[in-house]
Amino acid sequence: MDTIVQPTSASSPWPEGDMHVQQCEGLIFTPGIVDAFGGDTTSAPFEMRCIECGKVHDMDRPAYACTSCGNLLEIRMDRAKALERFSETKMRKRPLSVWRYRELIPIGDGAQIFTLNEGGTQLLDAKRLAEDIGIKRLYIKFDGTNPTGSFKDRGMTVGITKAKELGMKTVACASTGNTSASLAAYAGLAGMKCVVLIPEGKVALGKLAQAMMHGAMVVSVKGNFDEALDVVMKSSERFGLYVLNSVNPFRVEGQKTAAYEICDQLGGRSPEVLYIPVGNGGNSAAYWKGFAEYESLGVVNSHPMIRGIQAEGAAPIARMFSSGSTEMVPVPKPDTVATAIRIGNPANWKKTYRAIKESGGTASTVTDANILDAQKKMAKLEGIFAEPAGAAALAGVIADLEKGALGKSSEVVCVSTGHGLKDPDVAISQSAKPLTIDASVESLGRLLGAR
Ligand code: F0G
Repeated sequence: MDTIVQPTSASSPWPEGDMHVQQCEGLIFTPGIVDAFGGDTTSAPFEMRCIECGKVHDMDRPAYACTSCGNLLEIRMDRAKALERFSETKMRKRPLSVWRYRELIPIGDGAQIFTLNEGGTQLLDAKRLAEDIGIKRLYIKFDGTNPTGSFKDRGMTVGITKAKELGMKTVACASTGNTSASLAAYAGLAGMKCVVLIPEGKVALGKLAQAMMHGAMVVSVKGNFDEALDVVMKSSERFGLYVLNSVNPFRVEGQKTAAYEICDQLGGRSPEVLYIPVGNGGNSAAYWKGFAEYESLGVVNSHPMIRGIQAEGAAPIARMFSSGSTEMVPVPKPDTVATAIRIGNPANWKKTYRAIKESGGTASTVTDANILDAQKKMAKLEGIFAEPAGAAALAGVIADLEKGALGKSSEVVCVSTGHGLKDPDVAISQSAKPLTIDASVESLGRLLGAR
């Protein structure tokens, strides 16, 4: 990797005349509560609507699904109103981070922000990897460098801020691991109770350790992720739980900032193609929302084609594309080495299906062997240690190049979603065991073949 792409204009981290949302003294960041934005007098450009029937829902109450038709909700941005309060010049003076885009995030102007300084992750120009796999340009957006090691933190800073704004006391999620780690951290920061439901025996060790250390109540469910999510959703109202899975529209609003960042890092343009892993379908839908909004605001003048990548054993969305069906058929017993995306019944399937279609893209599958191979390549050639799900998008790029579904002269951005230290078991199981020697120079010499 030769270049680290930085935003073109953010030369000084703490620009004059524009208070950054982080609490900081000099260059030291204090995680925690940051004061309200203040100062904005225009009416908010946001509305929460059903993705199917368009019914408008009250944003000041916890809600995930339409009260009329049961479909998911989304936040819609009114372009004209957004343009009244969004200033590109002002935005560009702030450091790259989720809250750089605060005017485009639907949190009340009086709200206190809970932040661990998430976002602002590198877009790496992966030249060695590009040469190895035979593509003109390959960028990797490595979101494994977020505070808890995954992209979930982008959504959680917004989700927890919203939870507090709503006056909720307890937050909850079902998770294949990363959501629970992130939620637990932010709930701790905000002083809220946190309950996480995880599929028994299928959560990577690092993620489990995080949720426990951050003080969540960790509940192991005898079932898979889809069943755990079902329990959480059905219990939320009864037990006063604010659900922060990606069915929560505010989570998506934080995650969409990764798309804004990529455009900013590319110097104010959108990439041609974006490869992204798909599990529950929230992140791919969030990226599309970000790209589409940036284009509608005139910050960029195009959008990328989205290629969703699923593991072969957990690929209900990819099957929709290969069969031409507009209905998702759940996979009853999903399985893959990439446990983060071991999901058979994605709650966001409609959102992500539409997002990928609208972008002019498609979804396809990769095998576990493809994923592990891509994971090793990233680690060896670029120094990026991603967890298996975080290597799935690259596996998709490699598979598409081999099939001829992606041209060698393409420019691709590949999203890597989580850090490799999350799942040490998989990394160790596919690596050579350490060699053991006596503590002597001679022993080392024998090993190195020296005389
Ligand atoms: N990559 C990683 C590392 C993930 O943890 C997830 C999802 C995805 C990709 C897929 O994103 O679900 O928005 O399509 N992890 C969730 C969790 C399900 O519980 O941590 P998605």
